[in-house]
Amino acid sequence: MAGFVERLGLNVLFRFDPETAHRMAIRGLSLNVHGKAPPPPANLRTRVLGLDFPTPIGLAAGFDKNAEAVDGLLRLGFGFIEVGTVTPLPQPGNAKPRMFRLEADEAIINRLGFNNDGMDAIAARLAARRPGGIVGVNLGANKASTDRIADYVAGVYRFARLASYLVVNVSSPNTPGLRSLQDADPFETLLLRVVAARDEAANGGVTTPILVKIAPDLDDGALAAIARIAVASGIDGIILGNTTLSRTGLTDRSHAGESGGLSGRPLFQRATIMLARLRALVGPGMPLIGVGGVDTAEAALAKLLAGADLVQIYTGMIYRGHNIAARINARLSELLAERDFASPEDAVGRETDRWAAMALPD
Ligand SMILES: Cc1cc2nc3c(=O)[nH]c(=O)nc-3n(C[C@H](O)[C@H](O)[C@H](O)COP(=O)(O)O)c2cc1C
Repeated sequence: MAGFVERLGLNVLFRFDPETAHRMAIRGLSLNVHGKAPPPPANLRTRVLGLDFPTPIGLAAGFDKNAEAVDGLLRLGFGFIEVGTVTPLPQPGNAKPRMFRLEADEAIINRLGFNNDGMDAIAARLAARRPGGIVGVNLGANKASTDRIADYVAGVYRFARLASYLVVNVSSPNTPGLRSLQDADPFETLLLRVVAARDEAANGGVTTPILVKIAPDLDDGALAAIARIAVASGIDGIILGNTTLSRTGLTDRSHAGESGGLSGRPLFQRATIMLARLRALVGPGMPLIGVGGVDTAEAALAKLLAGADLVQIYTGMIYRGHNIAARINARLSELLAERDFASPEDAVGRETDRWAAMALPD
């Protein structure tokens, strides 16, 4: 659980509307004056995507959309930070209010709609920081774009040399029509084009790993097509996943009727089952990042066992506080040792079959 100072901070932040609280948190973290988490225990080190992660626990996209607090966030004990979603042009996103706390369920509904400063401003921020830590950049398309695939390609060129890895986000529910890029034909075209752009941007040098982030709401046929196309495309990994349109399992009715994507605890079961099904489809070779409802070391371990190489958190940090990564690191290290796993790799996929066979919450 959160410590005393952390609890106090959360109590203050929860007096504000979620977006104001979020801005305050980013501002505070960007000052870089908070304590530095201890280095993650050595048995959490893991090599994925050709990168050496100090811990498999990372911060998911959307928390630091504009790359304003990367170094402050790395100090909290995350093994990697994913900034964005970044679109080529700056855009304001949807009308407010557009972010809602469902406190009893430790969940969030958001329909922000890719509000961000645009790729030039964000690239400049990343270029200005001293290199260090693993920082991924999550790419999107502008709402008004007439050629969405071209927007992703522009992002790849802009960030290939600034990012530790790139993510093609086709799973936000808050840009109308975006998720249709997960349909087989456009999905294949998109992946081939971003992989080609990535290869060209490398210009003979080191190629930047590129992943695709998908929704947890796909049916079995769509998931199988995505797995097949992803493996054939030369993409380096898949993130599963984004927020869900499902409202299953909510006890907090306060904002359950709001449109947007649901994240946090109620998403855990669905996202973990889908992750395991994806692992079963792609086989052991393809790196997968498991996201959705992780707020404890037990939940993070479950993601590894279901088939994730790496794990990301967003909503858990809102409810459990800024020390969540440090707490999970300490406990996950113990959990791995108790099971005689020498490293996170040893746990990956041990329970894929069990998770994949579970029924999705309807
Ligand atoms: C307020 C909010 C904003 C988000 N913005 C983005 C985003 O810009 N890009 C993206 O790929 N995911 C975004 N996400 C989704 C998260 O990265 C993550 O996939 C999802 O919330 C599930 O993880 P969680 O249950 O740990 O929050 C956002 C989530 C929330 C709650």
